[in-house]
Amino acid sequence: MNIGIESLSFYTSRYYLDLKTLARARTVDVDKYYLGIGQEKMAIPPPGEDVITMSANAACQALKKIDYGKIAGLLFATESGIDQSKAGGIYVHRLLELPKNCRVFELKQACYSGTAGLQLAVAMIARHPEKKILVVAADVARYAMAGSGEATQGAGAVAMIISAEPKLIAIEPEAGYYVEDVMDFWRPNYLQEALVDGKYSIRVYLKALAESWHHYCQVSGRTFSDFYRFCYHLPFTRMAEKAHHHLVKLTGNESLAELTLTQFRDSLSYNRIIGNSYTASLYLGLASLLEHAAEDLTGKRIGFFSYGSGCMGEFFSGIVQQDYKNYLFTETHRNILNDRTELTYQDYENFYNFVYPTDGGDHKFPEYETGMFRLVGIKEHKRIYERKV
Ligand code: HMG
Repeated sequence: MNIGIESLSFYTSRYYLDLKTLARARTVDVDKYYLGIGQEKMAIPPPGEDVITMSANAACQALKKIDYGKIAGLLFATESGIDQSKAGGIYVHRLLELPKNCRVFELKQACYSGTAGLQLAVAMIARHPEKKILVVAADVARYAMAGSGEATQGAGAVAMIISAEPKLIAIEPEAGYYVEDVMDFWRPNYLQEALVDGKYSIRVYLKALAESWHHYCQVSGRTFSDFYRFCYHLPFTRMAEKAHHHLVKLTGNESLAELTLTQFRDSLSYNRIIGNSYTASLYLGLASLLEHAAEDLTGKRIGFFSYGSGCMGEFFSGIVQQDYKNYLFTETHRNILNDRTELTYQDYENFYNFVYPTDGGDHKFPEYETGMFRLVGIKEHKRIYERKV
């Protein structure tokens, strides 16, 4: 039985900052951002947009051709959750009016938990192949203003339907994983911004890739030449280049330098203009690959490397399914990206500095473009969401 991704959609903030604007404000050469880290724009959520509204927007699209009655679980992956206790997925479940007999919970391990959700959903479907699981990965990547991570911010949500009818990609059973207790990136409960040891985080990412790859090869017996394309966790797009070159070197394929570029290039387009979306980022890369590859990917094996700081890495694989192009939301995604509003530097500071009140009072938030859903306000410490249409 094939189990995998039946439907895949994403949503991101309707507002972005071009990194040339940030470069001017920070008196940095724009090429450091455009070329050095490979990022052009970053999505910035306005007041009233959070991981719940972005998830509901992404999931609405992914569920378009799905029988709601078959949804038996909603697995919500995030590292920018809104509550220490209640799962964000419960708000999303209500906003989408999904069936009440549904398992809903939240998963956390930095950027890795979207993959934890995917693999868990695959296992759930193996037990109940007639059901479908909605996996949502959503985050707001936020670093200290003017800090070294600032240009790698972003925001977005990806929704995937996992089922025994994987119209896009069947996930193979073999996976290689690696865990190590390190402090490369973390966010204590009392901080709104992540703390990061940037250069160290890149080294740990590459180590976790090598270890996960070795484990994957051991359990699967496959080698580098068994893969057609690769998707990497993308904190910034040049990370894919570093990761792929590391893998190519590790596997003794350095002579294929030009060929290897094409092995990951199509997966970068969306992330380059959205920025880091943590848990969603790897799957945004998959959407980009499927929606940009000029050639037919049917039957091809894709390698995935998922990384979450702290740290957890996993290398796994999937086979692209016949007629996958008929099940993509390419036009919707391009419209979402083309219709965004560019922020001035001052707008960016205003959005960044907007803080949700914590005094338990009754607060309403200004209305911005937030798709079909909106965080209207907070009353008595309770977030109030509405569906706009
Ligand atoms: P930095 O230290 O300010 O930048 O921040 P830099 O000086 O290293 O420059 C970056 C690159 O730009 C370098 O290229 C420069 O040479 C180049 P490289 O040496 O890498 O090849 N450069 C230029 N190129 C062209 N023209 C120029 C120019 N100037 C410089 N004029 C850093 C970079 C990534 C460290 C920073 O943005 C950061 O800390 N980001 C956040 C951490 C991060 O993204 N880490 C990635 C791995 S960890 C991860 O992926 C997990 C994560 O997603 C979180 C999670 O799991 O939850 C972050």
